Amino acid sequence: MKSKFKHIIYGGDYNPNQWPEEIWEEDMKLFDKARINSATINVFSWAKIQPSEEQYDFEELDRIIEMLEKNHKDIVLATSTGAMPAWMVRKYPETARTDFEGRHHKFGQRHNACPNSLVYQKYAGMLAKKLAERYGHLDSVVCWHINNEYGGECFCENCEKAFRVWLRERYGTLEALNEAWNTEFWGHTIYDWEEIVLPNALSEGLEWCSGTAFAGISIDYARFNSDSMLANFKMERDAIRSVDKETPVTTNLMGTFKQLDYFKWAKEMDIVSWDNYPAYDTPVSLTAMQHDLMRGLKQQPFMLMEQTPSQQNWQPYNSLKKPGQMRAQSYQAVAHGADTVQFFQLRRSVGGCEKFHGAVISHAGTHKTRVFGEVAQLGKELESLGDKTLGTDSPADVGILFDWENYWALEFTSGPNKDLKYVEQIHRHYRYFYENNIPVDMIPRDADFSKYKLIIAPVLYMVHKGVKEALETYVEKGGVLVTGFMSGIVGESDNVYLGGYPGPLKDMAGIWAEEIDALAPEQTNMIRFKDGTEYTCSMLCDIIHLEGAESIADYSSDFYAGTPAVTKNCYGKGKVYYIGTQLEESALDKLLENIAREAAVESLVTEQTPLEVTVRKSGEDTYYFLMNFSREEAVVPRMFGGMKNLLTGKAVAEQEIMKPYDVMIIG
Ligand code: GLA
Ligand code: ZN
Repeated sequence: MKSKFKHIIYGGDYNPNQWPEEIWEEDMKLFDKARINSATINVFSWAKIQPSEEQYDFEELDRIIEMLEKNHKDIVLATSTGAMPAWMVRKYPETARTDFEGRHHKFGQRHNACPNSLVYQKYAGMLAKKLAERYGHLDSVVCWHINNEYGGECFCENCEKAFRVWLRERYGTLEALNEAWNTEFWGHTIYDWEEIVLPNALSEGLEWCSGTAFAGISIDYARFNSDSMLANFKMERDAIRSVDKETPVTTNLMGTFKQLDYFKWAKEMDIVSWDNYPAYDTPVSLTAMQHDLMRGLKQQPFMLMEQTPSQQNWQPYNSLKKPGQMRAQSYQAVAHGADTVQFFQLRRSVGGCEKFHGAVISHAGTHKTRVFGEVAQLGKELESLGDKTLGTDSPADVGILFDWENYWALEFTSGPNKDLKYVEQIHRHYRYFYENNIPVDMIPRDADFSKYKLIIAPVLYMVHKGVKEALETYVEKGGVLVTGFMSGIVGESDNVYLGGYPGPLKDMAGIWAEEIDALAPEQTNMIRFKDGTEYTCSMLCDIIHLEGAESIADYSSDFYAGTPAVTKNCYGKGKVYYIGTQLEESALDKLLENIAREAAVESLVTEQTPLEVTVRKSGEDTYYFLMNFSREEAVVPRMFGGMKNLLTGKAVAEQEIMKPYDVMIIG
């Protein structure tokens, strides 16, 4: 597809309003030195541009924009609504949130407006419109950035009222609502809409029960909360659109962030953008998975809106990025579909809780730093790469299902095992494909499954209407599906599908499970494949009966020794694999290797390599990205010998060595 941008946007959050003007000119010089071609501005300037309820003052913002234009910088223009001005919270306390404990908040912090406050909505919408009227026509404004990192929850009375309205729309009658929430349990029957309260610590919230006594209510609250914030986003977007019909609109997302249903959000966004903050110990494969997820939201290239050039401040241990690491991480984003490389932030602030957050320009204020040097080197490279990779596709034969409602539901369950975490389970499967350089799409439950040779649906606990049928059709026509424990358990309201697990997936899987054993961290079981090899398993063990499927591994200990742990069923022209327990890594590798072979899914490189390899394509053009995230030197696979490395302009030598954090783009 055609990219939204003319070149790779290279820049990031820039807050000149925090600095005296002498510094601005200096900034412009330094940006040029680093080949920074854009700035994201006005992210937290509401108090500056609207100093009181009646007064707007765009004078400083005008000057900032003029200066950036004069210096030929693209502008990502934020609407500033992520942090409320003090006057607003003072005059309208209902704009602040009430937390899970029921405490109503005062002015302070950010990202904390009640999404159902009409006052907040009114002023946020007005501000967005005024900004669009004043700046929307400018060529320099290449993207709108609404709010900032939407998230959190509010349990105030306005939200409670809005929740009732939302529920009426969803259920129509109290009878339907009571049935959905299974309120006969503990006699919580609702007889009047006004009896409904938000599920927080003062009501259904329970610490010992994964947060809730009624998961059905809490899942509906999560849907409602995500929708409420999305309504805020849409309101600002529409305010901008009423004036500026063209400039793409985004808001910065946060990867696998739990609270917002990003697949639903992405439908309302012109382009997805996200903030990538791996910790020193985040597996590289998890970052890759999040990039793929962000690309998957729209199946389109995305923006890397934020990353730190060097260091964070909000993690427990904020290690420096090693020489070369930031560059490699930036290319990793591009390798997975990013069309921009942006930082938080361009100049490090003097005060506030982010003064230790890394920036392109450090407290030393000079270009003579390691970090600046690395940013400048990358800037030069991206500039010479030009628009080659922009808008290119990332083809994949494997789809891994990711579903926010399922994420919420799975983690609201009380039992069987508190350690079961959604993202971790998805990542366990993703890791195999990552390590073997097999491209993956992260897909929603309503994806076009027919595009994939192999679909992996781990812990598909909540099976929505239509998903069973879509998966059955996919498999009948020859698709290969992998699912497993804690799948097919409940419907959309968190009530169990009766008749044995995995409920609606039973027919396809050719099995039914009777009980689920939970293993404590210090406990394991064993499984034995037909070739006699044994591996450990943990977390959960389904006790399975075959109904047409064959067992490909049995448990080898405990009272269910000899019963099936992993099964395979032929269904129509396809196959369904069911993994009834959490396999140790090498067992999952072995299994997925066989399944991938059977599904005719191929790695991008035939040789074994510690390098990460991805591909972006468009028409005749193919770009391979090679990155060395290992600690050792690695040899470039033979297939690339003689091909051109776009970053050096030279041909790749046979057996060329890549040092840790080295990158090649071959095309
Ligand atoms: C987030 C925010 C930024 C900044 C960075 C710091 O991504 O969007 O405003 O606070 O974190 O890492
Ligand atoms: Zn509220």
